[in-house]
Amino acid sequence: MHVFDNLAALRQRLCVVRGAGQRIGLVPTMGNLHDGHLALVREARNHCDYVLATIFVNPLQFGPNEDFGRYPRTFNADVRALESSSCDAVFVPDVKEVYPEGMASHTVVSVPRLSTLHCGATRPGHFDGVCTVVNKLFNMIQPHIAIFGLKDFQQFRIINKMVQDLQMPIQLIGVPTVREPSGLALSSRNGYLDVRQRRQAASLYSSLLQAAAHLRQGSDDFRALEAHAHAALEDAGLRPDYVHISNRHTLELAAAGDRELVILAAAWAGNTRLIDNIQV
Ligand code: PAJ
Repeated sequence: MHVFDNLAALRQRLCVVRGAGQRIGLVPTMGNLHDGHLALVREARNHCDYVLATIFVNPLQFGPNEDFGRYPRTFNADVRALESSSCDAVFVPDVKEVYPEGMASHTVVSVPRLSTLHCGATRPGHFDGVCTVVNKLFNMIQPHIAIFGLKDFQQFRIINKMVQDLQMPIQLIGVPTVREPSGLALSSRNGYLDVRQRRQAASLYSSLLQAAAHLRQGSDDFRALEAHAHAALEDAGLRPDYVHISNRHTLELAAAGDRELVILAAAWAGNTRLIDNIQV
């Protein structure tokens, strides 16, 4: 597997790959790779000839009081994991390569409305940071296909909207959430949890499952189901940020008659913010 830390060298290689008629699949990550990330690499392999992962902890998507500084950076283990998932190459730029002139005056790509809901309300600017860096990665690499996890459902919807609005010739694929046996969605941030918090964290998914079961049985008192799940998270010792039953396409809070739903939730276990969702 090739490791590139320099865009010029990567572009040279991609030119050869494209010239040989190969399809390029991009898997953007922030590293500290787990089975959820590797599921994306495997899915990319099903659609592409050349699978390129990127590892970049993007400072632009972290708020001033968030965990950018202590976000886990595990480069050697990540390279080994990608190698054993038969990834073809990984691009690991440093901040200077991505933001040579700094971030303060950098162009921002912003998807309105969708970026202000749910996680966007608690993390202002977060999705602008995500869209900006994903846009840059798309321009640097010009992949045929890009693979994202449905664990970050709102992120996936926003990137879809960006690609659609800006008419980017890139096919997006969403991969179902990979979970621990407890139901807890794999996340690089799970490493922050102690044993007790990890147990509490599993209730995020079980609360969503319970709400989903009520929805499937025909309950349409969405606000009552949200309140119930909120209370269940508190009972489990988590500090809920939000539980929202939303229209799966607009991400607006579900209204009577909405059939294609997603339940989105975020909660803190100690200082660690966890998110999860279920489509119903
Ligand atoms: P990161 O959190 O590293 O996630 C990289 C990709 O892996 C995302 O598409 C995410 O949805 C997916 N992923 C994470 N956990 C998963 C799980 N348990 N199951 C399935 N997929 C999972 O998301 C980001 O990085 C960044 O915002 C990024 C898109 C790279 C832009 O900086």
